[in-house]
Amino acid sequence: MKLAAERVSVRFGGLVANDDVSLAIAPGEVLGLIGPNGAGKTTLVNMLSGFQRPHSGAVTLAGSDMTGRRPRAFARAGIARSFQAVRLFRGLTVSENVEVGLVACGLGRAEARRRVRTLLADFDLLHRAAQPASALSYGEERRAGLARALALEPRFLLLDEPAAGLAAAEAEDLKRAILSIRDRYGCGILVIEHNMALVMSLCDRIHVLGGGKTIASGRPDEIMADPAVRTAYLGRAAA
Ligand SMILES: Nc1ncnc2c1ncn2[C@@H]1O[C@H](COP(=O)(O)OP(=O)(O)OP(=O)(O)O)[C@@H](O)[C@H]1O
Ligand SMILES: [Mg+2]
Repeated sequence: MKLAAERVSVRFGGLVANDDVSLAIAPGEVLGLIGPNGAGKTTLVNMLSGFQRPHSGAVTLAGSDMTGRRPRAFARAGIARSFQAVRLFRGLTVSENVEVGLVACGLGRAEARRRVRTLLADFDLLHRAAQPASALSYGEERRAGLARALALEPRFLLLDEPAAGLAAAEAEDLKRAILSIRDRYGCGILVIEHNMALVMSLCDRIHVLGGGKTIASGRPDEIMADPAVRTAYLGRAAA
C-alpha cells in the first residue's frame, strides 16, 4: 500500500524540474524531502497529489496507476496535501476552517463537528475553536492547517514546508503534532523541510533532490554522511 512516483520527469520549457525521479512513501513512515531552492521538491509533491502531470513516468497508489488523474481523484483516494503558502480563511472561525472540506464531501453535520473537535484537541486548538482564524498566532495557524488537511482522514499526507517561518519552540510543537498524526492515524507522511535539525529528528528516511535529480536516499545518519548531499547543499563551502 505505497504512494509512489516511478521515474517521473517534468519539464517547464527548457528547464527539467524533475528528472527521472522515483520515490515511495509507506503507511506509518515519515519521509523527508529535502534539497536546495528550485531542486524540484514542490513539483514532485504536485505530481503525487494530481496537481502536475508527469511528462514521463507514473504515479501509483497501492500499485494502481493514478497518472493524469485530477487532484480531486487523489483526494478521494486518501491523499491530502498542504501548500507552501496557503493560509486559512481569515473570516471563518478556526472550527469552520477545519470543517470546510467535510460537509462538501457528504459527511453529516454532527459527525463533521465531532471529527473537527477531535482534531482541534489533537492539535491543542480546542480553546480557539470559536475564534476567527485571524486571531491565531503563526504557529497555531500552521497547526490548524494540518488539522484541516487531516480532516478527510487521508492515508497519505504531503506537507510542503509546514515549519517555514516558525520559531524553534513552535517548530518543536509542529514536530510533535506530525509524529502524533503518524502514531494515531497511521498515515504515511512526506515532509518538505529546510530546517535540517528538524528533518533529521523527525524523519525515518530522507530523499534528497538537486537540480531535479535524486542525489541520495536513506536514513538520516546516512544522508548526513553522504558527500554528494553535502556538495549539493553547501556547494563549495562543503570542501
Ligand atoms: N509552473 C512552473 N512554470 C515554470 N517553471 C516552474 C514552474 N514550477 C516550478 N518551476 C521551476 O521548476 C524548478 C523546480 O521548482 P520547485 O518549485 O519544484 O522547487 P522547490 O524544490 O520546491 O524549491 P523551493 O525550495 O524554493 O520551494 C524551479 O526552477 C522553478 O522555477
Ligand atoms: Mg517548494
